[in-house]
Amino acid sequence: MKILITGINGQDGAWLAKELLEQGHEILGTIRRGATNKLGRLEQLGIRDKIKFIPFDVSEFNNVFDTLRKEKPDQIYNMAAQSFVHESFHNPFITNKINYFGVLNILESIKILGLDCRIYQASSSEMFGDVKVSPQTEDTTFYPMSPYGVSKAAAHYAVINHRKAYGIHGTTGILFNHESELRGEEFVTRKITSQMAQLALGRQEPISLGNLDAKRDWGYAPDYMKAAIKILNSDIPDDFVVATNRLASIRDFFTVSAKVAGFEAEFQGEGVDEICIDKNTGKTLCVVNKEYYRPSDVVLLKGDASKIKNNLGWNNTIEWDTLAVIMTEFDLDRAKNPANYKF
Ligand code: GDD
Repeated sequence: MKILITGINGQDGAWLAKELLEQGHEILGTIRRGATNKLGRLEQLGIRDKIKFIPFDVSEFNNVFDTLRKEKPDQIYNMAAQSFVHESFHNPFITNKINYFGVLNILESIKILGLDCRIYQASSSEMFGDVKVSPQTEDTTFYPMSPYGVSKAAAHYAVINHRKAYGIHGTTGILFNHESELRGEEFVTRKITSQMAQLALGRQEPISLGNLDAKRDWGYAPDYMKAAIKILNSDIPDDFVVATNRLASIRDFFTVSAKVAGFEAEFQGEGVDEICIDKNTGKTLCVVNKEYYRPSDVVLLKGDASKIKNNLGWNNTIEWDTLAVIMTEFDLDRAKNPANYKF
C-alpha cells in the first residue's frame, strides 16, 4: 500500500514509518521545506533511505491538494502538528493553522478529488483539559485548557464531520501522553531523562521544571503507533482512546529517573520554593522555575482504553515506570557515547 505520513520526522512519525516499512508498505514522508537537516530520528532508526520525502506544508492548501492529486495515497496518517502545549500559548494562530487547518486541507482535498483514501488523525487527550470525570473515555466531554487543546478538538470534530457528511474514512486516535527515546527534549519526560544523565556525569546546574503537581498517563510511543495502525485499518471508521489507565506525577517520574541515574530523590519545600536533592550527597537535582508554568494547565489525565482493547485487540506493553527506566538508560548511554547517536 502507498502510505503518506505528514510530520514523519517527529517522534510519532518516525516510529510509525518504522512499523509500516516492516509491514512492507511504500512510505511517503512529508516534511516542511528546509527541514531536511532534521531527520535525526529517522537516521537513528536506520530508515531514512527507505522513505520518499515530499517538501510540504500541511497548512498550505495548494501543497496538500497538489500532493494528494499527484500521489493518490491509499492511506494518510496526519502526524504533522505544533505539538508543544506551552508554545501554543505564545503562538495560538500558528498552532491552529497547522493543527486545525492542516487536517481540514487534507479532508477537503480528499473530498474534492474524490480519493479512495483513509485518514488517521492524531487527536489528543489534551482535548479533555479540565477533566470532570476520570478516567476519560471516547464519551467524556472536552474542556480544552490551551490553544493547542482547542485546535486539536476542532480538528477532531472536522474529521468526524467529514466522516458523517461525506462518507470519508476518517479515523481518530485520542492518544494520551506517549514518550520514548525519540521524544523531543522540550517535553517534561525527556527533559528530565536527558538532563538527569548530565547530572549523573557531573553537571552541577539543577534541572529547572514548572508544575510538579501535574499528573499524566504516560505510555510508550511505539505501542501507541501500533494502535494508530489498528485504528486506521479497522473497517468501520471510528474514534478510540489510547492510554495505559495508570497515573503518575512529574515527581514520580523524576524519582524513578533519578534512581536509574544513581540518585535518591528527596523533594523539599513548596510551590516555587520546592527543590529536589540527592539524599546521599545533598546535590540539588531540580528547582522550580515559574518560566515553565502555563497560563492554564491540565491537572491530570488518565485514559480508559477499553474500547480499543475490546474492539481492535490492542494492548500496551510498557507503563510509565518502565518507560522512565528505558529513557534514562538511553540518555545515560547517549551522554557517555554521543558519537553513537544521530539524534
Ligand atoms: N514541557 C514541560 N517542561 N512540562 C512541564 C515542566 C517543564 O519544565 N514542568 C512541569 N511540566 C508539566 C506541564 O505543565 C504539564 O502539566 C506536564 O508537565 C506535561 O507536559 P508536557 O510533557 O509538555 O506534555 P503535555 O501533557 O503538555 O502535552 C503532551 O501530551 C499531549 C497528550 O495529552 C504533548 O505530547 C501533546 O502534543 C500531546 O497531545
